Amino acid sequence: MSIPSRPRPSNAVTFRSGIGPRIEPIQVAPPKRGQVSVQIRATGVCHSDLHIVNGDWPADKPLVLGHEAAGVVTATGPEVDGVAVGDHVVLSWFAPCGNCLNCAAGRAWLCTGTKALENTLPDGSTAYADAKDGPLWPYLGLGTFTHTVVVPESAVIPVPRELPFEVGALLGCSITTGVGAVVNTAKVPVGSSAVVIGCGGVGLSIVMGLRLIGANPIIAVDLSDEKLAKAAQLGATVTLQPDQTDVPSYLQHHYGGVDFAFEAIGRVPTIESLPAMLAGGGTAVLVGMAAAGVRASFDPFELADQGKSILGCNYGSSVAKIEIPKLANLYLAGLLPLDQLIGQVRPLGEAAAALDDLSRGIGLRSILIPS
Ligand SMILES: NC(=O)c1ccc[n+]([C@@H]2O[C@H](COP(=O)([O-])OP(=O)(O)OC[C@H]3O[C@@H](n4cnc5c(N)ncnc54)[C@H](O)[C@@H]3O)[C@@H](O)[C@H]2O)c1
Ligand SMILES: [Zn+2]
Ligand SMILES: [Zn+2]
Repeated sequence: MSIPSRPRPSNAVTFRSGIGPRIEPIQVAPPKRGQVSVQIRATGVCHSDLHIVNGDWPADKPLVLGHEAAGVVTATGPEVDGVAVGDHVVLSWFAPCGNCLNCAAGRAWLCTGTKALENTLPDGSTAYADAKDGPLWPYLGLGTFTHTVVVPESAVIPVPRELPFEVGALLGCSITTGVGAVVNTAKVPVGSSAVVIGCGGVGLSIVMGLRLIGANPIIAVDLSDEKLAKAAQLGATVTLQPDQTDVPSYLQHHYGGVDFAFEAIGRVPTIESLPAMLAGGGTAVLVGMAAAGVRASFDPFELADQGKSILGCNYGSSVAKIEIPKLANLYLAGLLPLDQLIGQVRPLGEAAAALDDLSRGIGLRSILIPS
């Protein structure tokens, strides 16, 4: 155990209703029982941060943004025995409670006891305060757009030291979600045909997962030529621009529909078009997260008559403690080229510009480095 006694000054990228993202000084309290301090070495900019900034998901408290990160343990509170100072770790944004029925059943991604989705630590508190000593809350229980975080031990996953921090950061969300959507949620059999709609950090990870398990063909769909070129490099066998090709008609004409259709945008018209892309018995997987409160509609007769399914996918149906080290080791063994997802690496102070690029679909995954 190693506990600093006083709050430490830091800078963080915050969002308060209507204000932000902006960088401001914060104080970070020492870790309490069951908590760990981690110095952030790299943190990815995910569309789930953008959903907060653009108002898709209303934020009811002032937040420290960021939830996809890797770093080094700098201090541990009492009763922390799974990690030690100096460990290299990836942070999981879905810290499970360990006690609920879903945790007991090995479905940590469906934990009903977690406080992460309420943007607090497990005891309902926060370690972050602003310059006026007002609370700032950790987005998804982490709030990684800062120099040092304080998080529950269950959010801290040790990884090999050889793993680059930028890759580790992406393992915290997009990769684990995307590869997990293929191997855990959909359990895609070898040789299945699949389409991936939206090739951002999550969609490209789905493409990599499909390549890893031997899906064929793999059709990638995006508005951006840059994303499609990267998808082809990562294993997509066909790339389509939806503004030039009617994707459902193309898939029905060429393949009689596909076995799996992954949506990785969270856009209602795209979600509604998924059943029309499938072959009979096919499965649509909802990985993209829609704005709060929106509705999508389907033809229930077609779903029943054609035996088509729709699956929801949270965090790639992953138990982070198991999946993150497994994926890290696949990267280190040369079997998953995860570093290919990394776009611009920029200082923390450029978070607003990185989120702006993300909103305009420019570039691959941005990584922020707190210096
Ligand atoms: N299910 C989960 O647990 C989970 C985890 C992480 C992220 N997400 C969600 O997944 C979604 C994608 O996240 P991301 O970080 O990869 O986002 P991103 O912005 O990097 O990727 C979205 C991609 O969709 C493309 N796109 C936009 N409109 C399109 C259209 N009409 N047709 C085709 N392509 C289009 C963009 O060019 C971009 O490449 C978000 O909704 C995010 O919140 C879900
Ligand atoms: Zn994310
Ligand atoms: Zn639980």
